[in-house]
Amino acid sequence: MRKDQPIGIFDSGVGGLTVAKAISDLLPHEQLLYVGDTQHMPYGDKSAEHVQGYTKQIVEFFLQQNVKLIIIACNTASALAASYVRSLFWKDVEIIGVIRPVVKTILERHYKKVGVIGTKATIESNIYQRILDETPHTLELIQLATPLLAPMIENGNIDDEIAHAILHQYLSGPLFASCEALVLACTHYPIIKDKIASVFAHPIQLVDNATPMAETVVQYLTEKDLLAETRRAANEFYVTAYTENFERIARLFYRKDIVVNELKLQEII
Ligand code: DGL
Repeated sequence: MRKDQPIGIFDSGVGGLTVAKAISDLLPHEQLLYVGDTQHMPYGDKSAEHVQGYTKQIVEFFLQQNVKLIIIACNTASALAASYVRSLFWKDVEIIGVIRPVVKTILERHYKKVGVIGTKATIESNIYQRILDETPHTLELIQLATPLLAPMIENGNIDDEIAHAILHQYLSGPLFASCEALVLACTHYPIIKDKIASVFAHPIQLVDNATPMAETVVQYLTEKDLLAETRRAANEFYVTAYTENFERIARLFYRKDIVVNELKLQEII
């Protein structure tokens, strides 16, 4: 691997841009290749087999592009497909998922009770509890699937009555009332972080994947002596089906004109 190779980062749609932005902020010299699999979004209600198939094709694309590291900026794909693609490609490239860095963060903060919201697939996989239980702890996790949130954000409903009604339906009950923190276990959710915070009557810290993941990338590239020294080329953005919302959110995050290319994946039966 060489320092000037790009980093591949992907999600089912716009969500992983929250992670890409955090990486760009900490490591402005790194060139990012971003793939949003908008054709298959939402991943959260797909089978493990399908998510593994999409993830494998995206990893293969990144390998053709000669990346030095792959970030799975999607909780659902990290939960259902990270071990699978690592078992296939461990000789070729390091693949890092978004879940372990967040679990490390909540353990370091010594919380007593933490809520976790994510897609149906992420919550049903129980991946946060399973990774947490690898370390001795006394932390209680309260988990809730919030399957409408990612499609709502992907459709651009981020500041309207639909968003307001859905957020209140999921979050205003007693379930998270005594939680000190809430993990946004879907990379789409930080896009509506302020709206989520406004639903709670008590102070609650929102923990997302972006900063813990970006810090993990810095640590990994530093340890491997792979940090880029100068920027080689502009970041590149690919979607598997064009959506206006993707372009809008990507422009919002990067504050400049970005070019969105199309990447065709094979259909998985
Ligand atoms: N952003 C993705 C995640 O972190 C998933 C949204 C979806 O495709 O269902 O889980």
